[in-house]
Amino acid sequence: MKFPMEPYRIKVVESIPRTSRRERRQILEEAGYNLFSIPAGKVTIDLLTDSGTSAMSDNQWAGIMIGDESYAGSKNYFHFEKTVREIFGYKYVVPTHQGRVAENLLFSTTLKKGDVVPNNIHFDTTRANVEHNNGKAVDCVIDDALQPRAEHPFKGNMDLKKLEKVIREAGAENIPLCLMTITNNSGGGQPVSMDNIKATRKLLDQFNIPLYFDACRFAENCWFIKKRDPAYAGKDILSIAREIFSYGDGCTMSAKKDGLVNMGGFLCTNDHELAERITNMLILIEGFPTYGGLAGRDLEAMSLGLREVLDEAYLDFRIGQVQYLGESLIDVGVPILTPPGGHAIYLDAKEFLPNIPPDEYPAQALACALYEEGGIRGVEIGGLMFGHKDPVTGEDVWPELEMVRLAVPRRVYTTSHIHYVAEIIRDVYERRESIHGLELVYEAPVLRHFTARLRALNG
Ligand code: F0G
Repeated sequence: MKFPMEPYRIKVVESIPRTSRRERRQILEEAGYNLFSIPAGKVTIDLLTDSGTSAMSDNQWAGIMIGDESYAGSKNYFHFEKTVREIFGYKYVVPTHQGRVAENLLFSTTLKKGDVVPNNIHFDTTRANVEHNNGKAVDCVIDDALQPRAEHPFKGNMDLKKLEKVIREAGAENIPLCLMTITNNSGGGQPVSMDNIKATRKLLDQFNIPLYFDACRFAENCWFIKKRDPAYAGKDILSIAREIFSYGDGCTMSAKKDGLVNMGGFLCTNDHELAERITNMLILIEGFPTYGGLAGRDLEAMSLGLREVLDEAYLDFRIGQVQYLGESLIDVGVPILTPPGGHAIYLDAKEFLPNIPPDEYPAQALACALYEEGGIRGVEIGGLMFGHKDPVTGEDVWPELEMVRLAVPRRVYTTSHIHYVAEIIRDVYERRESIHGLELVYEAPVLRHFTARLRALNG
C-alpha cells in the first residue's frame, strides 16, 4: 500500500454535487471564467482552500453541545486557554475569530510608520496587515524555495544571511518582531527545520528582536521535522511543537487549518505589556477577552481540534494523502512543484501549457479546464492574482511562477476522491493542446482575482 488508510470511519455524509460537462461550460461562461464566482453547489471536488473546510470529529460535535455561552468567563474559554498553553507554552492567549484578526491585533499594537517585518514568506493577509499599519513586509526565504523543482527537505527555511542583511539595513530598532510561517504556505506549504528555527532565534537574540510564529499549519510542520530530521524520529508531535514554540515569543494562529475547525483563531504572547494593549484593542474590534469573536461552543471545538491534530496516525494519513496526489501526477508526467507540500499540490501552469503566453492567463485557463473536465475547483496563483502594470512604464509585469494550487481539506475526501482528481488532471494533461487562453474583460482596482471577469479566446 502506498500510503495509510483513512484513520477514521464515516458517521455523517454529505452528497457531492454532480454536473454535466455542458452545464459546467455554461457555468464557467456565466461566472466570467472566475472560479470564485461559481456556487459551491456546482463544484464536485472543492480544492479552493484547506482553510475552514475541515470535517470535525464526533468528539468535536459533542463539544459543540457543551458550549457555555456566558458573556464573560465561559468554561470553554478556560479549557481553550489551558489547551493552548499546554501545546504552545505562551503566557497570554487571546481568542479571535480567524487568523487575520490576530495579525491585525499584533501589527496595530507593535508597528510604527516605516517599521520592517521579516518573514520566510508573508501570507497575503499578513503582508496586507503589515502594510495597512504602515510597515514594510520583507521575505527572507532560502533561494531554493523559489525554484519549482529544487529538492530540499526544508524548503520553507529562513535564509539567515538575507535576514541579517535586512536587520542591518533597517536597524534593529525599526524591526519590532520577526515572523516565521510554519509551514510556509506561499512557498508551497513547505516546512521549516528545527535547526533553522533555532538559528533564526539565535540571530534575532543578537539584536534583541522577538520571534513570532504564523502557526496555521504547525502540526504539519512538526510531522515533517519528525520524518526528515533523524534527531526527532523518536519524538512525539506534541513535544516537537513545544520545542518549536519555546524558541518564540508568541504566535498568530488561524485554527481554520491545524485547529480542525470551520472558524477560529488566536494570538499568543509572553509580553505582559503587549498583551494588555492587544486585549484593549480586542475589546474594541472583536469582543470580550474570554470569547474574542467566537461562541463558547466554537472555543470548545477548537480546543478539541488542537489536540486531535497532534495524532500521528491522522498526520501520516493527511500529509500522505497530499503526497500521494503529488506522486500520482508526477508518475504521468504532470509538472508540479516538488517536493509536495503539507496541505496542497501546485501545478506548474507554465510547463503544463507552454503555448499560452502570460497575458492570456495560463494558470487561470488551467484552473478553468480542471473545472470543465471534472468539476474540480483549485485556485490560480499566477498572473491574475499577482500581475500588474508598472507604475512608471505602464507595462505589464508578470509573476515568475504561474501555478494552480489544489489545497486538500482535512478529513474530508477519501482516497477514491483523490484518484478521481488525479485522473481528471491526467485527462486534461493529455488534451492540453486543446486548451486556450483567456482575456481579461473586467478588473477591480485591488485584489482583482476575486472579482475579475474573463472571456475564452477560443471563440
Ligand atoms: N497565515 C497563513 C499562512 C495562511 O495560510 C492564512 C490563510 C492566514 C494567515 C490567514 O488566516 O484566513 O483565518 O484569516 N490562508 C487561507 C488559504 C485563506 O487559503 O491559504 P485566516
